[in-house]
Amino acid sequence: MPFPSIEELIAQLGTRERAARAGGGPERVQKQHEAGKLTARERMARLFDPDTFTELDMFVEHRCTSFEMEKTVAPGDGVVTGFGRVNGRPVYAFAQDFTVIGGSLGEMHAAKICKLQDLAMKMGAPLVGINDSGGARIQEGVDSLSGYGEIFFRNTLASGVIPQISVLVGPSAGGAVYSPALTDFVFMARGIAKMFITGPDVIKAAIGEEISAEALGGAMAHNQLSGNAHFACDTEDELFETLRHLLSFLPQNNLEDPPRVPTADDPHRTSEALLHLVPTVPSKPYDMRDLIGQVADRGEFLEVHHHFAQNIVVGFARLNGRSVGIVANQPRIMAGCLDINASDKAARFVRFCDAFNVPLVTLVDVPGYLPGSAQEHGGVIRHGAKLLFAYSEATVPKITIIVRKSYGGAYLAMCSRHLGADVVFAWPQAEIAVMGPEGAANIIFRREIRDAADPEARRREMIDEYRRNFSNPYQAAKRGYVDAVINPGDTRRMLVAALDMTATKREQRPRKKHGNIPL
Ligand code: HXC
Repeated sequence: MPFPSIEELIAQLGTRERAARAGGGPERVQKQHEAGKLTARERMARLFDPDTFTELDMFVEHRCTSFEMEKTVAPGDGVVTGFGRVNGRPVYAFAQDFTVIGGSLGEMHAAKICKLQDLAMKMGAPLVGINDSGGARIQEGVDSLSGYGEIFFRNTLASGVIPQISVLVGPSAGGAVYSPALTDFVFMARGIAKMFITGPDVIKAAIGEEISAEALGGAMAHNQLSGNAHFACDTEDELFETLRHLLSFLPQNNLEDPPRVPTADDPHRTSEALLHLVPTVPSKPYDMRDLIGQVADRGEFLEVHHHFAQNIVVGFARLNGRSVGIVANQPRIMAGCLDINASDKAARFVRFCDAFNVPLVTLVDVPGYLPGSAQEHGGVIRHGAKLLFAYSEATVPKITIIVRKSYGGAYLAMCSRHLGADVVFAWPQAEIAVMGPEGAANIIFRREIRDAADPEARRREMIDEYRRNFSNPYQAAKRGYVDAVINPGDTRRMLVAALDMTATKREQRPRKKHGNIPL
């Protein structure tokens, strides 16, 4: 038999590639589109810069012979993997192909993902996982379970080494949810993403509760209620655009600094609006995001976890081209108090920023912790401690601005000097004290108020006196806990100066295997 020519071999390769790219075939692709979902390769095209995606392991096949699986052809074993560029920088990604055996995960499917995880870690590039899968491939039994285990193990090894981002654009059920949960950011597309450990049918059978899949594990369930997801997007297009935006703020790995992006926004720009944005009346609400918009480069702020624990705001911005992670109380929601969810949300964000060399800017306006038995019994002590721990262990530059209220334990928790803030500024209306004037006056002047001819008038007098003497930034400034009291209009300039000054920060900590953050 004559050897085939190179042209024939290339034609054969083309045939094989076309078969692999066809996934589960036109009917299943049509079904995927009818379900309002893109295919795995269409998703890759949206994630990566044009013409930069290189596919790996296109010809991988499963080895299962149980349940007559040898008769089932599964192109790429139900997952597309490879690398490309996002905003010009290398990124690895896998996308489960629901048109091939429901994107279910078997031995070889998992092996492809693990190979990619190993590559991403070795090269120091982010990994994006696009999840759309029926879960463990039932026919492959424990091989499929072992596959998940291998992925979880690598997710954990990669944590804090490369940014890991999960995209949920289809079902993700059972133990499969734990890979997204182990990654840094979870994106969900409304209407198509579903994530739960046990689905509605099992829940009904086990405990009689009836709930729809959407209400149980849809995008809003996880963005708003459980906090498992960080971004809810209306369409897949919006999702991938937001993901690309997120990556633009991040370094490729833990050994790099985030990219510096030239900006036309004047670093010395002052803001008249800031003089009136935060009312001097401590109980009056305002939107902290307006403040962030005034100081950030071009007003740009990518909020993370927007729908969850809205009493605290976290997200990425740039100051004079440098990425920063912003953590800010939100007086518009629950007066900006700290609670279980806000502590969890902020602590996880602080740890991400610290792991990836993103300086932290903390904007403080906090009346304290949310009181009540629900919080106490829900573990606000344990959860609140996470925030103290996260800020204390963070060695990135830490800059804090106290814009108004800052009381008690919440003062300490919001990246105070005592938890290692490098620079602390306060606005003139800042109130830094053990507690608010009402509470404080009622306790320390109790006898005086009780014995007065007009106790109510006396109470008001004592509250005013306390406010005058103690609810201001100057007591803390006298001790050096606050470095400077600044004109609010100068906030951007002062933040840029502080970031410049702390850019070379090096801080050594005692050697240990790892700390034991209260979980
Ligand atoms: C094998 C699967 C599969 C699975 C789907 N398919 N899930 N094959 N193993 N886990 C196949 C279907 O048989 C079908 O094949 C094709 O994929 C498309 O599925 P449909 O059911 O037609 O799609 P749809 O109606 O959209 O429903 C999607 C679904 C449903 C809700 C995901 O398929 C489903 O409930 N699947 C089972 C989910 C599940 O229980 N998985 C195990 C979870 S436990 P044909 O040939 O008919 O088109 C788990 C443990 C992980 O994952 C543990 C890790 C620690």
